[in-house]
Amino acid sequence: MWLPLVLVMMTMISCLEAVVGTNNNNNPMNMVIKTQTFSSPSFTMTPGLVIEKYFYDINFPKSHIAIKSFDVEVVDESGNQIPLPQTYLHHWALVRYYQHKNATNPTINTVYSELQEPNFIIASNNGVCGRNVLTAYYAMGSESRKLSTFLPHPYGIEVGNPKEIPADYEERWSLNVHAIDTRGAENKLGCIECHCHLYNITKDRFGRPLTEDYKGGLRCCYDKTKCRVNVSDGEDFKERNLFVRYRVRWVDWNDFVIPVKVYLLDVTDTWKPLSDSKEASQQHNCLIEYDVEAESCSHTNKVDDDKCNAVKKSKIMFPSSGYLIYGVAHQHIGATGATFYGEDGRVLCSSSPIHGKGNEEGYVTGMTTCYPQPGSMKIKKGEMVTFVSNYSSTMTHRGVMGIFHIFVADKIFKSSSPLSEEVGNNNTIVM
Ligand SMILES: *[C@@H]1O[C@H](CO)[C@@H](O)[C@H](O)[C@H]1NC(C)=O
Ligand SMILES: *[C@@H]1O[C@H](CO)[C@@H](O)[C@H](O)[C@H]1NC(C)=O
Ligand SMILES: *[C@@H]1O[C@H](CO)[C@@H](O)[C@H](O)[C@H]1NC(C)=O
Ligand SMILES: *[C@@H]1O[C@H](CO)[C@@H](O)[C@H](O)[C@H]1NC(C)=O
Ligand SMILES: *[C@@H]1O[C@H](CO)[C@@H](O)[C@H](O)[C@H]1NC(C)=O
Repeated sequence: MWLPLVLVMMTMISCLEAVVGTNNNNNPMNMVIKTQTFSSPSFTMTPGLVIEKYFYDINFPKSHIAIKSFDVEVVDESGNQIPLPQTYLHHWALVRYYQHKNATNPTINTVYSELQEPNFIIASNNGVCGRNVLTAYYAMGSESRKLSTFLPHPYGIEVGNPKEIPADYEERWSLNVHAIDTRGAENKLGCIECHCHLYNITKDRFGRPLTEDYKGGLRCCYDKTKCRVNVSDGEDFKERNLFVRYRVRWVDWNDFVIPVKVYLLDVTDTWKPLSDSKEASQQHNCLIEYDVEAESCSHTNKVDDDKCNAVKKSKIMFPSSGYLIYGVAHQHIGATGATFYGEDGRVLCSSSPIHGKGNEEGYVTGMTTCYPQPGSMKIKKGEMVTFVSNYSSTMTHRGVMGIFHIFVADKIFKSSSPLSEEVGNNNTIVM
């Protein structure tokens, strides 16, 4: 029934954003930033409904490229952006995988941990959470609204390199989308934070029983669950089909691109240095979510000194050396900022929530980003780095996150020409 519509929506808008120089491949000024906008298949929302879909083999540039940015928004059939108080984009993740030529396609309900070798290989980012956890190249949520993900020139994420794709496999991309329709909800924040008592369930997605002490988080708001709505209000809102519209910007691979490594660092990671534990291996264990318990300071209603500031910290050994090119944190409602520190305490990146206005007041609609002058922020291999995620604890928050996206280059662009100064952090290549 919805197939013809999907085909229409999948029509791509394609354009060349900046055409620079002549067709001479030896000149870095030649890089052409290409842009394509695609739509995911549709998903149907009704008041209170949660969807968590795994769209496989999505439209994506197929050649050997360097990704410059990836941006996402939720839209309706007419292409209008959907306000967060109607459909809350809890998270989305862009995951790369290799599919064997004679494997059958996974379904929209196949979770990443079910992609088994040899039929599928997850082509993960550079770490560090480990197998099947936070393997995405980009993973954000409601802050996608106003987030800059553009990598400055000449940096990019190298993908589609035929030499890296195993024989008899094809490189493909998947988009995981988790959204909650809070139209008419009795408690919108409760639905968004997946408070278990608002979802009439006793088991998680995998059929494991939920215990009393699990009060909220992803285990209570999986695909097809429903958050409690005010009955009379709930009937006022129509069922509707929505899409994720995503825009990829890239340059064709060439010798001047400097590839970046992509790390997702989780503030709940329980990794411990060898000196701190007797365990034989230093396993990463990223729990992804955590709870913020309310402190008795709700009357002040603001973060003042360390009162009502819930601080979560994690320390890990950085796996390789390089220069920080881009950084941003992913946090939820109630967050007051996150910081990534080097071993000597220097601030490598600090990222804070940008709050919405008007009908999106109170929602996190963006995060501030870090674009250090390339070369100015060096991280050493084996350096003990710390990341800190702060939330206001004037009230309880369930299932919050503190995840850092760190893009690191092995080398920096050094040029005898003044090019490096002329290239902005945004999508403009200044000539
Ligand atoms: C899958 O493909 C390989 C060649 O890549 C072939 O040798 C093998 O027999 C195939 N296996 C199945 C189960 O079809
Ligand atoms: C639903 O009802 C509750 C309690 O009556 C109220 O606080 C809430 O604002 C209502 N939700 C909406 C979306 O109107
Ligand atoms: C809660 O779930 C039970 C069993 O699945 C169902 O019988 C009941 O009607 C549900 N209650 C609400 C309020 O949806
Ligand atoms: C987080 O809280 C700690 C402790 O109060 C503070 O030192 C740090 O600056 C805060 N970071 C951010 C980004 O708010
Ligand atoms: C983009 O970056 C260039 C170079 O830094 C700057 O001159 C220009 O004003 C920036 N444009 C926007 C829209 O920020």
